[in-house]
Amino acid sequence: MSRRALLQYLELLKQSGIRQLYHEPAGAQAALDKKALLKSLALKYSDCDKCPLAAGRLNLVYGEGNENSIAMFIGEGPGDNENKIGKPFVGAAGQLLDKMLAAINITRQDIYITNIVKCRPPENRNPSTEERLACLPYLVEQIQIIQPKILFIMGLVAAQSLLGNTNTLTWHRQSCHEFMGIPAFVSYHPAALLRNSNWKRPAWEDLQAFQKEYEKLL
Ligand code: URA
Repeated sequence: MSRRALLQYLELLKQSGIRQLYHEPAGAQAALDKKALLKSLALKYSDCDKCPLAAGRLNLVYGEGNENSIAMFIGEGPGDNENKIGKPFVGAAGQLLDKMLAAINITRQDIYITNIVKCRPPENRNPSTEERLACLPYLVEQIQIIQPKILFIMGLVAAQSLLGNTNTLTWHRQSCHEFMGIPAFVSYHPAALLRNSNWKRPAWEDLQAFQKEYEKLL
């Protein structure tokens, strides 16, 4: 990780209230049952009240997928269907995500999927800065446990939240970034692709760029 990226990451952690970092002794992480650990954390946070989104929560949408995957897909936040069911990307955007994955020979079982915020923002509005920062420690912890080697960030809100800037989606799509030292690709959110099919072509190019790196890391 470059010095700039490290400072940016530490600042983000500081803003979200994280005051201490620890490093697992070598080998200890491998010994942990990641699946059981993630399950117990999802349960532990299911009554989180750190931000106003708790008020509309039917289910905390912690994340789902292959905890041993090298790839993590990160969206913005649960919608109505996800809030009801407790799993990420189960609505129309999720169906499109499945098709996008299939186009690059990936299934849901190959990857881990989660969101910036784990509870549904009312009327699907963008999560506020306060809400994003309150939830960030959960994502950081998921990344520390799963240890993906590549990230695919879906949409501007997720990109700006993780990469700590206010740049446009076009800017974010131009290069591969880093979050917690992990290469991070940015593309359109599947819900945006459902609204504007002109973005499908550039989204396909983003997916192919991701696929190239993903397959190198397998
Ligand atoms: N949109 C998201 O960003 N995440 C979901 O889980 C569903 C829709």
